[in-house]
Amino acid sequence: MLPHNCILGTGYAVPPRILTNAELENMVDTTDQWIVERSGIRQRHIAEPGSALSDLATAAARRALDAADTSAEQIDLIIIGTVTGDMKFPSMACLVQEKLGAVNAAAFDLSAACSGFLFGLNIADSLMQTNGYQRVLVIAAEMLSSMVNWQDRNTCVLFGDGAGAVVLGPASDQRGLLSSYIKSDGSHHRLLYNPGGSQHPPSHENVDSQLSTINMEGREVFRHAIVSMTDALHEALKRADLTPDDLDLLIPHQANIRIIEGIGKRFKIDPAKVYVNVDRFGNTSAATIPIALNEALANGRIKPGDTVGLVTFGAGLTWSSCIVQF
Ligand code: UT7
Repeated sequence: MLPHNCILGTGYAVPPRILTNAELENMVDTTDQWIVERSGIRQRHIAEPGSALSDLATAAARRALDAADTSAEQIDLIIIGTVTGDMKFPSMACLVQEKLGAVNAAAFDLSAACSGFLFGLNIADSLMQTNGYQRVLVIAAEMLSSMVNWQDRNTCVLFGDGAGAVVLGPASDQRGLLSSYIKSDGSHHRLLYNPGGSQHPPSHENVDSQLSTINMEGREVFRHAIVSMTDALHEALKRADLTPDDLDLLIPHQANIRIIEGIGKRFKIDPAKVYVNVDRFGNTSAATIPIALNEALANGRIKPGDTVGLVTFGAGLTWSSCIVQF
C-alpha cells in the first residue's frame, strides 16, 4: 500500500474589516436576534471593494508554507477551491503562483462552491499518489461579499470572506489522510446558484436585475446539508475502517450553527467534540474548513495522534468528507 499523505502546515487570512449584525440592521430588515438565533453568526470579515482575493489566498499560503517549513520553490502543485477568483481567467491559482514565486508548480482552480477545499484535498491526494508530487498547496479562498445581493436579507447576513491553506506531503508513518469521499447531485442546482455567467453575460440590464448575485432556497439547502454531511461522514469512516467513536474532533462546514448541531445529533457525537467558529467568521464557503483546521491546531483542540473528521456541503449540490490523523 502507498504511504498516506499528511498535512504538514496550515494557515489562514481574513480581511481586517469586521461587519457586525448591528451594522446589518441598518442595511436590511433584520435584527441581531434573528441572525444569531437562526444562524449563530455574530460577525463576519468583509474585504474592501476592489481588493484582490489572490492577496488573501497568498497570505494564507505563506503562513501554511512557514508552518510546513517549506519553500515556495518546493511546491509541485497549487489547487485553489474558489468561485470568486480575481478574474474569470486565468485561474487564481496562477496569480497566487506568481505572488508566491512557486515557479516549479502546476496551478489550477476548482469549482465546487463550499466543498472546494475538500474536493481539492481529495484530488491533491490522488495526484500525489499517481504523479509523485512531493509538496502540494491546497487553498480555499472566497470573497462572497462580491456576489451577495446586499438588499436580500435571506442571504446577505450569512456570508463572510476569507482564505485557508494547507501544505501536503508524504507521511513518514501511518498517519495522514486516511480516507476521503466526494459526491454531487446537479439535479438540485437551483437551490443555491449565481446565474451570472456565459448564459447571462454582464450587461446593464443583467446587473440591474441582480443576475450576478447569490440565490438560495435556505430551508431546502438546510435539509439537504444535514442529511448529506452525515452520510458523507459515515462513508469516509467506513473507507478508513473506523467508527464515529474513533473521532477526537469533527470540523463540519461552518454555514449555520443549527446545521452543525443537526449533524452532531444525527451522527450522535458529543457536542464538545464538534468545532464551531461560525459565530466569528460567518459562512466563508470553501474556506471554512481550512480556517477552522488552522485554529484547532493553533489552540490545541487537535493534538498529535488525534483523528479528525472534516465534512462539507455546498452549491451543486456538492458534498465531501475526509478523515485525517495528525
Ligand atoms: O454554505 C452552504 C449552503 N448554505 C447553507 O447551508 C445555508 C442553509 N440555510 C440556512 O442556514 C437557513 O435556512 C437560513 C439561515 C438561511 C434561514 O433560516 P430558516 O430558519 O430556514 O428561515 P426561513 O428561510 O424559513 O425564514 C423564516 C422567516 C421568513 O419569514 P416568513 O416567511 O416566515 O414570514 C423569512 O422571510 O425569516 C425571514 N427572514 C428573516 N428575518 C429577519 C429571512 N431572513 C431574515 C433576516 N432577518 N435576515
